[in-house]
Amino acid sequence: MVEAAGGEGRRVALVTGASRGIGADTARMLAAIGDHVVVNYREKAKRAHAVAEAIVHSGGSASLLGADVSDEASVDRMAEQIAKQFGRLDVLVLNASGGLEIDAEPGYAMRINRDAQVRIVERMLPLMGAGSRIVFVTSHQAHFHGRKPVPAAYEPIAASKRAGEDALRAMAPALADRGVTLTVVSGDMIDGTIIVRLLERRNPGAVAARRGHGSLPTVEEFARAIVDATVIDAATGHTVYVGGSDYLAAPRA
Ligand SMILES: NC(=O)c1ccc[n+]([C@@H]2O[C@H](COP(=O)([O-])OP(=O)(O)OC[C@H]3O[C@@H](n4cnc5c(N)ncnc54)[C@H](OP(=O)(O)O)[C@@H]3O)[C@@H](O)[C@H]2O)c1
Repeated sequence: MVEAAGGEGRRVALVTGASRGIGADTARMLAAIGDHVVVNYREKAKRAHAVAEAIVHSGGSASLLGADVSDEASVDRMAEQIAKQFGRLDVLVLNASGGLEIDAEPGYAMRINRDAQVRIVERMLPLMGAGSRIVFVTSHQAHFHGRKPVPAAYEPIAASKRAGEDALRAMAPALADRGVTLTVVSGDMIDGTIIVRLLERRNPGAVAARRGHGSLPTVEEFARAIVDATVIDAATGHTVYVGGSDYLAAPRA
């Protein structure tokens, strides 16, 4: 296991799906502001190891925690390991997401994007004290689901991520009881990501149409907003928007 310094004196931050993309950049940036980052991954142990190693190499603190968040027993084990190793969790970034995988079975999108998110929060909440932060990472296409058209290939993901966001928002009273704040960070299509490359292949018109509204945010810009959401002074349920000015012109509910 890659590790340095442990959680003492630092916030302990778990980033789900941090082996690549937005999660990996978020992990690096949280470590850069002094957090101990727990890098979660599903199967790409080597990549996750490289993310944690780079953090430690640049003087930060990180450890690895492999767990398939769509699997209830794995989530339970993840909570047990964090309890055992740190005794607490200060920041939970709900970044891991799925459903676009070519071999995803029907129902998987709802399982990972809604059910797993709720289970992670239920399992982590007992470890989270007053002032702890939860950030749910989503896309404009999911956040505005039902009010804006969605590329056909992304429809099940958008519906399930919106359902996940609604389910997490419904947990606000339980979070408030513990003094834990939920912030939602919603992004437009993020340039250079695998998801956008997949969409480009399956619905080329949809990505071109987004680009027609202006340049897409970068992974770094989106990750920066996620990290900021772990420190900003905001009421629970606050939504941070990244990119997509045409979405934001629509009525927000
Ligand atoms: N890409 C975009 O344009 C965009 C736009 C707006 C919002 N977002 C949101 O940003 C977040 C990250 O997106 P991304 O594009 O960076 O995703 P990505 O490149 O597909 O990365 C997915 C990450 O999640 C992990 N993961 C997947 N299934 C998992 C599971 N069952 N359990 C644990 N980890 C799992 C992967 O781990 P392994 O590599 O080990 O499989 C990987 O680290 C998502 O919530 C997404 O909805 C993305």
